[in-house]
Amino acid sequence: MPFPIKEVRATYPALADGHAYLDGAAGTQVPRPVIDAIATAYRTGIGNVGGAFPASHRSDAIVAACRAAVADLVGGNPAGVLLGPNMTTLTYRLASAIAGPGDEVVLSRLDHDANVRPWTQTGATVRWAEVDPVTGELPVEQYAGLINERTRLVAVTAASNILGTRPDVPAIAELAHQAGALVYVDGVHATPHGPVDMRALGADFYATSAYKWSGPHIGAVVADPALLETIRPDKLASSLDTVPERFETGTAAFADLDGVTAAVDHLAAMVPGTGNRRERLLTSMAAAEEHELALFAVLIAGLETMPHVTVYGKPARRTATAYFNVTGHAPRQVAEHLAKLGVNVWNGHNYAWELTGALGIRDTGGAVRAGLVHYNDRSDVDRLLEGVARLEGHS
Ligand SMILES: Cc1ncc(COP(=O)(O)O)c(C=O)c1O
Repeated sequence: MPFPIKEVRATYPALADGHAYLDGAAGTQVPRPVIDAIATAYRTGIGNVGGAFPASHRSDAIVAACRAAVADLVGGNPAGVLLGPNMTTLTYRLASAIAGPGDEVVLSRLDHDANVRPWTQTGATVRWAEVDPVTGELPVEQYAGLINERTRLVAVTAASNILGTRPDVPAIAELAHQAGALVYVDGVHATPHGPVDMRALGADFYATSAYKWSGPHIGAVVADPALLETIRPDKLASSLDTVPERFETGTAAFADLDGVTAAVDHLAAMVPGTGNRRERLLTSMAAAEEHELALFAVLIAGLETMPHVTVYGKPARRTATAYFNVTGHAPRQVAEHLAKLGVNVWNGHNYAWELTGALGIRDTGGAVRAGLVHYNDRSDVDRLLEGVARLEGHS
């Protein structure tokens, strides 16, 4: 069955402005059920959690439902879902509780800075996994020489947010586990682009951000609750010491958490499916991935055939994410030119700090990123390609 792109697009009110939203890797638009869930939570009345009255009970239920939804999305345990404002904040919190001077951590130059700096700043000794700058691959073989009995943790992304590279996380995790190290997988870019099974990846921790998959600006990290029991983050004397609550600081954005659940339900229902929500998510996200990759084949072939365009990376397994430069034009100029044509793309290093450094373009403005998500269609791709084609010879 073809992906029902018209029906999917119709659920996103923002798409009615006629822009080609190719900026999804920096944050997706939000479908009507998510907007409604958040508005309804506020309209109905919500209180802080743990109180004696109905509005508080509603927030208790919202939090529990959100943990269950995120667990379904990534194949995790609801009792090990940590919720917070974004992935960066949660990762800083976990990093400072997990690693420190005397430990070793293995980091990759493929990763977004949010899965790098929180670990380097713990004071642990850092060992670097390098990226092949031509292919954009993260070779697994190097990990055997990087991991040893002092390795506390290996942090690696499930997909690069600029090149789209999907490294062989299960193989890296196996090496890490053989040495007794933990594996922290950044799933922020990967999660919206296909089915996720954090256990199959070998992730002890799987981080994701709802605003990359049609939800509000909320982050989550999922882990085995038994592992979380062994970790003691800084916390207030007065706040709950239970798992997962002791990892969550302050008062949560309860209405937004209801929006997260609605986003997961939306993702599960993009194509008709049977079974429980987890099963429907696997079906629906596989269909979305197929849709994205079919469009991406057109997008990347179009860019690669333009003589005035340099495309970075050519990884074998990737998300529908292109990163490119146009001869004679700064990335910002390209983005501004496309914006005038109603095409939204991102420009810059996109926080892929180590990777843009390795590619030698961090100090020259990075490049242009155009990414597809499930709500993009062929016209979005055509408009991008026509816009970039117009820049030929106009330096
Ligand atoms: C791959 C990746 N990791 C981490 C982050 C940081 O996520 P957050 O904004 O939730 O802190 C991003 C955000 O763009 C990302 O793309």
